[in-house]
Amino acid sequence: MHTLTLRRPDDWHLHLRDGAMMHAVAPETARHFGRAIIMPNLIPPVVTGADAAAYRDRIMDALPQGSTFKPLMVLYLTEETDPEDVAAAHAAGIATSVKLYPAGATTNSASGVRNFDKVRPVLEKMAEIGMPLCVHGEVVENHVDIFDREAVFIDTVLDPIRKATPDLKVVMEHITTSQGAQYALEGGDNLGATITTHHLVINRNDILVGGIKPHYYCLPVAKREEHRLALVKAATSGNGSYFLGTDSAPHLDGAKLSACGCAGCFTATNTMSILAEVFESEGALDKLENFTSLNGPAFYNLPVNEDTITLTKGDPVTYPEAIDTPDGRVTVFDPKMPLHWQVS
Ligand code: NCD
Ligand code: ZN
Repeated sequence: MHTLTLRRPDDWHLHLRDGAMMHAVAPETARHFGRAIIMPNLIPPVVTGADAAAYRDRIMDALPQGSTFKPLMVLYLTEETDPEDVAAAHAAGIATSVKLYPAGATTNSASGVRNFDKVRPVLEKMAEIGMPLCVHGEVVENHVDIFDREAVFIDTVLDPIRKATPDLKVVMEHITTSQGAQYALEGGDNLGATITTHHLVINRNDILVGGIKPHYYCLPVAKREEHRLALVKAATSGNGSYFLGTDSAPHLDGAKLSACGCAGCFTATNTMSILAEVFESEGALDKLENFTSLNGPAFYNLPVNEDTITLTKGDPVTYPEAIDTPDGRVTVFDPKMPLHWQVS
């Protein structure tokens, strides 16, 4: 097989940032993707419907002329979030989902939730109106080892929330463990999970063996090889529980290559080439469209994209090592393997 045509893919978890950074990175996603769920962890965060509408306008201004890319906006859940504002933003088509960050779990999560009981009224309203909750699934307690934080979150936070609010649609964002993949599979129609490009490629050895690799550091941190294999199996299965959320998370190189380096891998530029390589090596190219283009819209009750993209196989693909912004470089994720599929 040397060409592969897919419904245009969507990215169900993306960081576009704001200002000059957004202008530099937005075209990288808009080139191949039809829509993306836009993460709201700006400083200050995108909390209200008005914040989301203003951010959406800024994103539209950052897109290349003629682009048909559609940002799907997300509200950042705080303990002060007003259920009525959430419902109004959803009804007006301004906000597609709400994002739950446990306070302190990741980049710009300080305004997130400490006491999950405080957001019950918002979650109940969301269940009533059918609005999905996107969840960063890691506990933040100091005594819990960073490699165990996802599995502990599922047992101690996510499962109780889902039992208390069974009608709430939940997306487990960027799962990194076999436990996450299994829980998503067993969760029925109201539960889905996004999987990133980089978690299909790297394990924790890739971050730490032979010298620390800051560009492979992200949250949730990559786990053991057995977990990467579980994610590959899940993504390439075609099962509707799993869909692509790249979590492409640009940071300036200066912020990554630091004594306290930021978490995030920037994969917008080469994601489709990497995914095609991973799916091909599993003999699952016929499942790539499910993962990138069909399962996400089905979960979100949105139509699939009307148009298609075509990938062509040939000599190893070249892509830039970094994207330039007026403030500095953003290194593009290096999958450490030749990529043969290119979006034509
Ligand atoms: C994300 C970021 O930089 O905003 N970083 C990351 O490592 N994934 C935040 C997030 O999604 O956790
Ligand atoms: Zn993210």
